[in-house]
Amino acid sequence: ISLQKYNTFGIEVFAKRFVSVTSFYELQQLIQTEKDFFLISGGSNMLLTADIHKLVVHIDIKGISIDRETEDSVHLTVNAGEDWHEFVLWCIDQNYGGLENLSLIPGNVGTCPIQNIGAYGVEVKNTITKVETLEIASGKRISFSNSACKFQYRDSIFKNEAKGHYILTSVSFKLTKKGYQINTSYGAIETYLEEHGISNPSIKDVSDAVIFIRKSKLPDPKEIGNSGSFFKNPVISKIEFEELQTKHPTIPSYPVSESEVKVPAGWLIEQAGFKGQRYGDAGVHSKQALVLINYGNASGKEIYELAQKIQTSIKTLFNISLDIEVNVIQ
Ligand code: EPU
Repeated sequence: ISLQKYNTFGIEVFAKRFVSVTSFYELQQLIQTEKDFFLISGGSNMLLTADIHKLVVHIDIKGISIDRETEDSVHLTVNAGEDWHEFVLWCIDQNYGGLENLSLIPGNVGTCPIQNIGAYGVEVKNTITKVETLEIASGKRISFSNSACKFQYRDSIFKNEAKGHYILTSVSFKLTKKGYQINTSYGAIETYLEEHGISNPSIKDVSDAVIFIRKSKLPDPKEIGNSGSFFKNPVISKIEFEELQTKHPTIPSYPVSESEVKVPAGWLIEQAGFKGQRYGDAGVHSKQALVLINYGNASGKEIYELAQKIQTSIKTLFNISLDIEVNVIQ
């Protein structure tokens, strides 16, 4: 079957064998006999560059349950196959706060811990209490506490030592029911709220602001294939940064630590002249240079070649190595 509709880049590659699993138990049964498979969930953080010869296992386990509730907070567990944004909207409807800044991020709940999704001043690690997995080797249910997940900027244990050993089956969150920690630190959110005359924003206002901002900058994967930010924002030393600043006085940065800063990759890519460029059906988004796009019929290889071309250029111009954030499947 074609995997085109299972990846947000809309890349057409094929798999001979494909199965959707809808429960933990079904998955547990399956991995007793199948040890070598390719997992696909929301398909929002991968670039497929070749046909998949393994069995493709589509994680489609649905359901949300409330574990515990107090006056101030709620603990809930969400199965991996739930759509992330629908879950966020549901939380806002229930008046559960904590995820509003993460509105409209493509993908499923089960993959949000892997890259510790983050946007507009908030990372999902702030609300995750537990990640439940199926250990492939033993077929057992294994839980990871928040600290066991080793969350960092766009990173977790699931991208490192745990990679390939566990299937994430559900994620538990602690959200607030009052005393919301509204985060409007991101400039564009503040601007939106001012323009709408909102001085005391609710979680719904913040979500609306984020949706508005994302729609204005980021392409909708339903219309134009993409995987959000293709690269990570590089972290460099302050010394390197100051050197760059002498040559490029307008270079933006965010503080990371005493000795390091993060530079927006989108700025570097724009300076290198790639913003809005198109090579066949592969391109760089015209409103956000960090996003690579598939205009329709690009192959994964073409997108990957464009990514490498950008990496080379950024290395030459700024002596900075850009790391790819999406999972490139070769
Ligand atoms: N910029 C440019 N040109 C561009 C894009 C960005 O000059 O084409 C500069 C601007 O100076 C801008 C700055 O970069 O002020 C930051 O841009 P933006 O606010 O759009 O954020 P970002 O650093 O490019 C990160 C995340 C996004 C997230 C936004 C908002 C990463 C890799 N990306 O992008 O996450 O939505 O911040 O918080 O950290 C994703 O991971 O898929 C994603 C979209």
